[in-house]
Amino acid sequence: MKRKSGQNPDITKNWKPATLAIRGGTARSEWGETSEALFLTSGYSYDRAEDAAARFAGEQQGMTYSRLQNPTVEMLEQRIALLEGAEACRATATGMAAMTAALLCQLSAGDHVVAAKAAFGSCRWLTDTLLPKFGIETTTIDARDTAAWETAIRPNTKVFFFETPANPTMDVVDLRAVCAIAKAHGITSVVDNAFASPALQRPMEFGADVVAYSATKMMDGQGRVLAGAVCGTREWIDNVLLPFHRNTGPTLSAFNAWVVLKGLETLDLRIRRQSENALKVAAFLEGRVAKVLYPGLPSHPQHALAMSQMAMAGPIFSLYVGGGRAEAHGLLNGLELVDISNNIGDSRSLMTHPASTTHFGMAEAARLEVGITEDMLRLNVGLEDADDVIADLDRALTSIGR
Ligand SMILES: Cc1ncc(COP(=O)(O)O)c(C=O)c1O
Repeated sequence: MKRKSGQNPDITKNWKPATLAIRGGTARSEWGETSEALFLTSGYSYDRAEDAAARFAGEQQGMTYSRLQNPTVEMLEQRIALLEGAEACRATATGMAAMTAALLCQLSAGDHVVAAKAAFGSCRWLTDTLLPKFGIETTTIDARDTAAWETAIRPNTKVFFFETPANPTMDVVDLRAVCAIAKAHGITSVVDNAFASPALQRPMEFGADVVAYSATKMMDGQGRVLAGAVCGTREWIDNVLLPFHRNTGPTLSAFNAWVVLKGLETLDLRIRRQSENALKVAAFLEGRVAKVLYPGLPSHPQHALAMSQMAMAGPIFSLYVGGGRAEAHGLLNGLELVDISNNIGDSRSLMTHPASTTHFGMAEAARLEVGITEDMLRLNVGLEDADDVIADLDRALTSIGR
C-alpha cells in the first residue's frame, strides 16, 4: 500500500460525512489507483518463515488470511467507522451476521437481554428463539416507552437491543434516554441503524455503545450485494467482537466490500433524495389510505423525537391500506412501476406485505401486538421521479377502490 487517504485522524476529524463517504479509509496500492482496488485473495505469502510466525504472534504488521484481514474489506471498515464516528468497525457477510455477532460475542448463558418488540423478523427470532436456546434470557418490550426499558432491567441484564426507526412499524426509540439508562446500569446498548444509515442518524452521538448495520440496505443502496457491519470502541471490537468474528467466520467477501465502498460514495446524495421523495409519497398517501406511518410526517406520534435524532426521515415507511390481506395484496398486484419486493434501501421503489414476507416467521399474536396487521404494507421509496411513483400508487389504489 503506497499512498493513503482518509486515515490521518488529525485531518479526517474535520471532514464532513459526504467527504468521508468517498475518501475515508482509502489505501492505495503501488499503482496509485484512484478507485479502491479489489483484492480477491484468500491468503497472503511471507518472505520468510519467521515473518509468518511474527505475524501470527502479532509482532509484525501484515495480513495472514482473508477470514481475518483483507485490504479491500479493511478500507470499508475504516470508512464505515469514520462515517459512524466510531473508533472501529468490523464488516460482516450480512446484516443478520452483524446482529448475531454483536449479541453472541458478548453474551453467555445466564445473561439477560432487553429488546424491542417491534423489530425485523430475523432480529425477533434472535431474541425469541436463538438466545434462549443458549440459556440467555430475553424480555421484549414496547421500545417507545422509555420507562419500560428501566423496568425490564434485572441484575443479570447485559444488553439492550433495538432498531430505530423499527422495521416495519416505524416505532422510534429515544436514543439519548434509552442509552443513558443502559450506561447508568452498566448495560451495553446495541442499536440496529439499518433504516437510517450513518448519513441520517449516528446513534453513538446519543450514547449508543455498539451500532450494527445491514449494509445490504442504504449503504450498497442499489440492491446488489449483502453486507453488514458492527461498530464500537477499539477496545470492544478488538477484545469482545474480534475473537468471536475471527473464529466463527461471518466475514464479508472482498468483492461485496468493494461494491459497498462504491455504494457509500453516493450514500449522502441518495438518502437525501430518497427521503425527499418518501415525504412527497407519504403526504400523497395520507388521506387515501387508513393510516401512514412515516416519522417524517407531523402525523407520526413520534415525529418530533425522530426529527431530533435524524437529519431526515429516510426512504422507508409503512401504511395501513384498510381492509385485510386481499386489499393489501390487491394494491401490490396493481403496481406497474413499484416492484413487489421485500428488500429495502434500494434506489428502486419496492413494496411488500410484511405479514406474509419479512415478518411471516413471527407468531401471529406477536405480529398483531406490534401492529403488523394483514392490511399493512411497507414501501421503500427509490430515486425515480416521485410523481411517477405517486401516479403508480394512485392507479393501484384506484384498482382496489380507494
Ligand atoms: C432492520 C434490519 N436489520 C437487519 C436486517 C438484516 O439484514 P440482511 O438482510 O443484510 O441480513 C434487515 C433486513 O431487512 C433489517 O431490515
